[in-house]
Amino acid sequence: MRARQSRPSVARVYSYVLGGRDNYGVDKDLGDYFIEDLPGSERLAFTNRDAVLRAAKAMAEAGIRQIIDMGCGLPTDENVHDVVRRVQPDARVVYVDDDPFVVAHGRALLAVDDGIAVLEADIRDPAGLEANAEVQRLIDFDEPVGLLFAMTLSFVNDEENPTSVIQHWADRIASGSRIYLSHFRTGTSREAVTTASKILEAFGRGRFRTDDEIRACFGTLPLDEDGVRPCAQWHTADGDGNQPELTVWEQLVVGGMAHKP
Ligand SMILES: C[S@@+](CC[C@H](N)C(=O)[O-])C[C@H]1O[C@@H](n2cnc3c(N)ncnc32)[C@H](O)[C@@H]1O
Repeated sequence: MRARQSRPSVARVYSYVLGGRDNYGVDKDLGDYFIEDLPGSERLAFTNRDAVLRAAKAMAEAGIRQIIDMGCGLPTDENVHDVVRRVQPDARVVYVDDDPFVVAHGRALLAVDDGIAVLEADIRDPAGLEANAEVQRLIDFDEPVGLLFAMTLSFVNDEENPTSVIQHWADRIASGSRIYLSHFRTGTSREAVTTASKILEAFGRGRFRTDDEIRACFGTLPLDEDGVRPCAQWHTADGDGNQPELTVWEQLVVGGMAHKP
């Protein structure tokens, strides 16, 4: 029998749509709404997740050996440290989420050794996060660091100033560091409008932004050659040529990566 929970959580519903099993009835109901009433909408979650892992791999291939995953979500089959450590075996990873359910599961499944920490913290308080003892232990800010903000700033409202969150870290990180973010993108299709209003209704937050607004989150940091584009096309092997046409869902999540010169 499923335990009862009155409100769905972003992390559990996202995990459910991706095929995860750690959820309550209320999460399953919302996840089933997306899967059954908005067929194809799960592509939004899958293309986002695939792009996060490509971003983590690209960071490791650029020589980065320390990552902070901001709003990491529940563990999946493949996780950031798996991908990064395949390239950089001694990489250190700090997973951060403000959902205690995520942190409990993350500590059980992700924190496999001393080089990985799973913290309960709010990314809207970057100074507090930077001062955290585990961040201080695992991250050397004199060396390049990779910061992942995958579908997390979508849950930071305008008045909470997502750009200032990125700016805090942009000022702090060493040359050669990288910041990846993915984000819900505004659309005018029926699917876009329905999805945005359902997310807001269910979670009480959830902001879709235009490409320009998402680019602005990076402040003055230069974006790499892929710019901000749908996750389904971001850093894919196909590059610019012969991209398959995107579904309406795949157009609703975009990603981009910037570096600190
Ligand atoms: C849609 S999930 C994305 C998970 C993962 N980053 C990915 O892209 O595969 C968003 C995650 O951000 C977390 N989150 C939302 N707002 C947050 C905040 N202010 N501080 C920390 N985590 C937050 C949620 O709990 C959830 O786990």
